[in-house]
Amino acid sequence: MKIAVTGATGHLGNQIINQLLKKTEKDNIVALVHTKKHAQKLIDENLEVREIDFQNEASLQKAFVGIDTLIYVASKTYSVLDRVKEFENVLSALEKDNVKNLVAMSFIADQETNPFVMSPFYGYLPRRLAGTNLNYAIAKNALYADPLVPYLPELIERHALIYPVGNAKMSFISIEDSAEAMADMALNEDILHSRKIYTLTQGRSYTMPELGKIMTKVTGHEIGYKPVSVKEFGEIYSSEGDGAELASMYAGGAMGMLTSLSDDFAHITGHEPEDMYHFLLKNYQK
Ligand SMILES: NC(=O)c1ccc[n+]([C@@H]2O[C@H](COP(=O)([O-])OP(=O)(O)OC[C@H]3O[C@@H](n4cnc5c(N)ncnc54)[C@H](OP(=O)(O)O)[C@@H]3O)[C@@H](O)[C@H]2O)c1
Repeated sequence: MKIAVTGATGHLGNQIINQLLKKTEKDNIVALVHTKKHAQKLIDENLEVREIDFQNEASLQKAFVGIDTLIYVASKTYSVLDRVKEFENVLSALEKDNVKNLVAMSFIADQETNPFVMSPFYGYLPRRLAGTNLNYAIAKNALYADPLVPYLPELIERHALIYPVGNAKMSFISIEDSAEAMADMALNEDILHSRKIYTLTQGRSYTMPELGKIMTKVTGHEIGYKPVSVKEFGEIYSSEGDGAELASMYAGGAMGMLTSLSDDFAHITGHEPEDMYHFLLKNYQK
């Protein structure tokens, strides 16, 4: 039983590999990497590493030979066309190599009225899979909690969260928890055959004042909520390259489109996801 993971050098893919290592033999795991020099740690761990480029179907077809289950972690792009091409290449290579099973990553911002620039991709993914002959399961992630940790020093300076979401709640999951659930999904025949969407979230969602209170407790610094406008948010983070794209996601958030909650995580893994307070406490260095 060979399980291959794309994005194996990235945040999510790498943690999926770590989770698989806890749950199955190393020989069952294949790390699919884009840039081999990013993969030295995986090579040093004696994992089987194969190179792929999502935009090159032949590379995927070569890498998928002998694979039973693919865990598809998408590349990070804000081009819907590139992402669709990437996923079509993956599906085509899976079919040519007769790979039977797929666990596909998705995101909760997938509603048809969602202004997030990547929501068209997340809307298309489950509909596209429904027309294939694959055994598949979709892991629909809430917002990653992890980027909140390096953001805390800035929030301490600002004395406030500034997300332009008004009174809406937002729902999170740690990358480690998402990775654990996705590894379990790939190892569970019933889930693989289910052709269902599993929504991976913590046990509750938060308004920004509620999130600020948790951050205040963890850091010992007052963090309140002073929302900026969607436009201002895009401008503040434009130098990071994705201010406008993130602003479009929070515009959907203000419409209540980042609030999904589910107990799928506990059903898949047999335990509760880590809550926000303990996650931040564990990872924040004072
Ligand atoms: N739920 C959320 O809140 C949230 C937040 C952020 C991102 N995401 C999404 O989650 C996914 C994973 O995020 P992440 O943080 O793990 O991203 P990441 O750390 O940037 O990892 C992306 C991986 O994709 C690989 N990759 C890039 N271009 C590729 C190509 N042409 N062919 C094959 N592989 C390629 C990268 O390899 P190289 O480095 O070698 O190029 C890297 O290993 C992304 O799709 C992202 O959009 C979700």
